[in-house]
Amino acid sequence: MATPSTQPASATAPATLKVPRHIGLIMDGNGRWAKSRSLPRAAGHKAGVENLRRIIRACVELGIQHLTIYAFSTENWARPVDEVKGLLFLLDQVLDNELQELHREGVQIRHIGRVDGLADSTRRKLESAVAMTQNNTRLVLNVGFNYGGRAEIVNAIKQMLADGVTSDEVSEELIDRYLYTAGQPDPDLIIRTAGELRVSNFLLWQGAYSEYYAADVYWPDFDKNELLKALEHFNSRERRFGKTSEQLV
Ligand code: FPP
Repeated sequence: MATPSTQPASATAPATLKVPRHIGLIMDGNGRWAKSRSLPRAAGHKAGVENLRRIIRACVELGIQHLTIYAFSTENWARPVDEVKGLLFLLDQVLDNELQELHREGVQIRHIGRVDGLADSTRRKLESAVAMTQNNTRLVLNVGFNYGGRAEIVNAIKQMLADGVTSDEVSEELIDRYLYTAGQPDPDLIIRTAGELRVSNFLLWQGAYSEYYAADVYWPDFDKNELLKALEHFNSRERRFGKTSEQLV
């Protein structure tokens, strides 16, 4: 879906600020944050989770309706075994410790990504978090865990073939319906922390017309103020969706 979408922010933001309906978040820089403090990388990921909690709350307060986070990519399996184990452990911890609070705040949890490679116990926790929160409506939180944009497209094509979709039936709308994010608006804004200008296989299809914002701080330091800066920047952009400026007035 390529429909642009913004709405006025809730009372906690400047009155004139329009917030995007859907934000994507590439939470980069945990390792560098830890290194800059002479801490192990695991401490950076732990601080990253703590920050995630704050940013989800801020998004709920601001009235953002969809938030997609990139927590573990299909490529992250190539990291040192201990780091991978640590990230898998953090997912378990988040599901064990944060679920009730997220549920209370009206967050609907969805998993985007493959379940292969996840322990059975983790899969069950994910499934029950998704089931428990499925009727919540304040914020849809897409948790990208074992997620890759290319893998998602491959998965969609395989599913379409398995369903006997013919070439005449293939359209952008149909492909949308086979993605993990089926039924959700495309991200209006994708924020990447730690200053890098890379897409890193995140929401490749859905991000076709997203505005990108590179925050110059490591993820654990990306606070509500930084989020508001990203939103102000987003508000200053002219989204043309292939048209000219003159056509938009
Ligand atoms: C990138 O920083 C961050 C990640 C690969 C993981 C992001 C994960 C979290 C914030 C916590 C996990 C969240 C859940 C829901 C379990 P990096 O390690 O690439 O940092 P660097 O580029 O500075 O080394």
